Amino acid sequence: MKQIVILGSTGSIGTSALDVIRMHPDKFSIAGLAAHSNQDILLKQAREFNVKRLALVRPYEKRTSLDDIIYGENCATELIRQTQPDIVVNGISGAAGFLPSLETVRHGATLALANKESLVIGGSFLKSEAEAQSARIVPVDSEHCAIFQCLVGEEHNDVRRIILTASGGPFWQTPRKDFPRITPEQALNHPKWEMGKRITIDSATMMNKGLEIIEASWLFDLPINKIDVCIHPQSIIHSMVEFCDLSIKAQLSNPDMRLAIAYALFWPQRLALDLEPIDLSTDLVLELLPPDTKKFTSITLARHAMQQPRSLPCIMNAADEVAVQAFLKGRLRFDQIIPVVEKTMDALSGWKIDNAPEVMDLDHEARHKAEEFIR
Ligand SMILES: NC(=O)c1ccc[n+]([C@@H]2O[C@H](COP(=O)([O-])OP(=O)(O)OC[C@H]3O[C@@H](n4cnc5c(N)ncnc54)[C@H](OP(=O)(O)O)[C@@H]3O)[C@@H](O)[C@H]2O)c1
Repeated sequence: MKQIVILGSTGSIGTSALDVIRMHPDKFSIAGLAAHSNQDILLKQAREFNVKRLALVRPYEKRTSLDDIIYGENCATELIRQTQPDIVVNGISGAAGFLPSLETVRHGATLALANKESLVIGGSFLKSEAEAQSARIVPVDSEHCAIFQCLVGEEHNDVRRIILTASGGPFWQTPRKDFPRITPEQALNHPKWEMGKRITIDSATMMNKGLEIIEASWLFDLPINKIDVCIHPQSIIHSMVEFCDLSIKAQLSNPDMRLAIAYALFWPQRLALDLEPIDLSTDLVLELLPPDTKKFTSITLARHAMQQPRSLPCIMNAADEVAVQAFLKGRLRFDQIIPVVEKTMDALSGWKIDNAPEVMDLDHEARHKAEEFIR
């Protein structure tokens, strides 16, 4: 049985990971669960899966019966230290996932990575630590899982480019002039995926695809100019790889994160899953269209960020997290999210980062600066 820790177990990725384990209780044992503040759900999960160690950043109530809970900002890293699992599923949202990812690879455990921010903000440090400890980073993001599957049995030098598909979110056909009137409720209404709030808003601005380009560059060791994006509104083709002979391989399935999570948990083998198969008995239309990068500037911004890969992506992510929160609280318009990110990147572009702890310092600074711009 593989010992697993799930970080962010109360969120969208975390609950999907628990669903996969429910389907295969004989293959996995949960050594620990971590969440931010959703105490009741965390305790319910712990009872169902008989989990002994829990971590909670901010409990609403400390009870003596919860003595086995690790509290505080660093609870997720402490949980990994105490449980020493084989695999950590990182489903934390935002930059808060970086240090737990680093701790995972430091222990030589496999990192099943949904928290793309870990690679976006600290890719060089995470990769070099994983290499030093011979730890594996296995992608959970559906696009990256698709590419990971397409690359099985292939030579790295034979990859001409990878093509990340994007659903386009709810507004890929909305004229830009209508962006100022977009409400949080409209932006949270993703046509294909049910996800946490931050990634859903990022899908609407397409910043999510920008973050994914950077994530792919680190994961697959490819320069940014070998990573393309295309709009695929049906979300059935999860991504593609083009090889030197111009063959393209793709991975297809109905949109369901449990497939990608299961692949990461049981890689290099596959697990049978009780999910909805693609229905080929009716007409299936699969569209692939170029993205409108003039309307969605976040893709170009992410490419620009990789000119200073240790600092600009970290600034970009932090400013975006702050701007998305401000939008959700009605303090910023939808069309102002990316300009806040751009301004913050310009303002802090001189920052240099030499080691992993400095990543969080820059994250902190960028949040501060973005908040200034919003005010
Ligand atoms: N959802 C998807 O389908 C999907 C697909 C691909 C990639 N991803 C990536 O996966 C990550 C998670 O996304 P999500 O949609 O699952 O987000 P989500 O639904 O908002 O869940 C976030 C989870 O992280 C927990 N959390 C937040 N800060 C924490 C901290 N400092 N320490 C420990 N736990 C913390 C939350 O706990 P509380 O519930 O207590 O707040 C919650 O369990 C993101 O990086 C996202 O980009 C998600």
